Amino acid sequence: MITPADTPDQLTEPAHATHAVPGAPLVLVLHGGRGDLARRLVIPSLAALQHRGLLPAHWALFGTGRDVISTQEYQDLVRDSLTEFGQKGIADDDVAAVTQHSAFVGEVGEDDPGDLPGVIEKARGVLADAAGTDPADVVVVHYLAIPPQAFEPLTKALAAHGMTRGHDGRPDTVRVVYEKPYGTSPERFRELDAVVHDVLEEQQVFRIDHFLGKEATQNLHVLRFANELIGAVWNRHHVAQVQIDVPETLDVGQRAEFYDGTGAALDMVVSHLFQVAAEVAMEPPRHLAASHLARAREDALACFRELDVAHDVVLGQFEGYRHLEGVAEGSTTDTFIAARLWIDNERWRGVPFLLRTGKRMAASAQRVTLVLRRDPTSLYGDRVPVGRISVSLAGDGAIEVTAAVKRPGPDLDLELGTARLDLDDVDGESLPPYASLLDDVLHGDHTLFTTPAGLADAWRAFAPLLGPDRPQVQPYPPGSWGPAAAAELAGPGGWALGGSKGGGSKGGGSKDGG
Ligand code: BG6
Repeated sequence: MITPADTPDQLTEPAHATHAVPGAPLVLVLHGGRGDLARRLVIPSLAALQHRGLLPAHWALFGTGRDVISTQEYQDLVRDSLTEFGQKGIADDDVAAVTQHSAFVGEVGEDDPGDLPGVIEKARGVLADAAGTDPADVVVVHYLAIPPQAFEPLTKALAAHGMTRGHDGRPDTVRVVYEKPYGTSPERFRELDAVVHDVLEEQQVFRIDHFLGKEATQNLHVLRFANELIGAVWNRHHVAQVQIDVPETLDVGQRAEFYDGTGAALDMVVSHLFQVAAEVAMEPPRHLAASHLARAREDALACFRELDVAHDVVLGQFEGYRHLEGVAEGSTTDTFIAARLWIDNERWRGVPFLLRTGKRMAASAQRVTLVLRRDPTSLYGDRVPVGRISVSLAGDGAIEVTAAVKRPGPDLDLELGTARLDLDDVDGESLPPYASLLDDVLHGDHTLFTTPAGLADAWRAFAPLLGPDRPQVQPYPPGSWGPAAAAELAGPGGWALGGSKGGGSKGGGSKDGG
């Protein structure tokens, strides 16, 4: 689709695949630098980039937090994080490099800038000297690895103390990364968005949804747009339903208190599952430039129909959840959701997008499955088993094509056969999703980040679940596929994962691991 806004410049924007090592020195300020997210995901991502030679030659990491600790103490924390959560294959040299580049600064408040502005300014000078460049070119990234309620005050504080602009008011050298959830309701989303746009230009803002950074999610494009065979069936004429299924065997563990205030729908659906649905549903973009891909995802989200909570949503809670420490007595928080989403456009009219995720389920997997239609004129009639194209988003990812084949032997019996391609069998070395997205931030590449228009539509479609018609949670046994009603939602063929019905029962599994 071509709009008047398309210019030759936009068409020459770099496509996602063409990253070189960033030349400009980098100051990475990790707000919430001692927190769980920083330790488990952000610091290990830095080490992954260091290992792959994808960080600039000159850089520094400043963790921030309330109680100031010494540089030595922070470096110990960084080293311990890498020992505990570092990617396999990270060498001692990488650990040492990340550790040595790290220091700690007290947090910044709206009324009190603390040391941070001075520390950034000094680092700009030192790094620019070392690199022989102008301090104005040093890139400063503020990574907000903090609870969502702290996004607004911190954004205001950064602006109040001159940290949202580079030298000479340049916006292009200062970037701010927001974790999910970006808003907790349509209203909170709008408020946050207004605060952010008050002080930052959109090109400075990076909203993370790490499912978009997964290797296999990126492969959804390639599979479709680079393979005519598959691209040709990607529509309602050939696809009967789409399943986006992310069951987890995980408990809510240490996060019970946070989780009890959130639940599966808010934690997973309005963010990850909706974004993946938009990736599947999007029309071919005119070009691979970030603006075109992001717009294609936005256009798909704009066609999401508001969830019909009375007919299309099943919420569940695993038995025993209410006894967990940190969970409120009589909690009605959902630990499971199955939903049927409709996408009102020409390509997908009448095709249900079935979304499912939950904790303490029978298996862990992250699957996108296109259940294919049975050809009504098929010579084999009803004997034809239904084929599927499926993409596993877990780990390095995998693609499976399941097709009707002849069962070997004297009779003409039909059977389903599956061909599987593990993406780590393909030459190359994948980056974990957070590292891939951090690399994009360093390059100013927005391709795999969410946009305000897209999020506004995600919240619009999700909003009925926050209202008075929200269905009651139904109990399910830990280790099962959720409440029985969720199986009905998928229709006669059931869920692709978890057996023919994929609901209510224990056991089952998948090859996805996780
Ligand atoms: C997070 C959710 O965003 O994604 C977790 O908060 C969930 O509840 C996790 O377990 C799943 O993603 P991944 O890629 O870590 O398996």
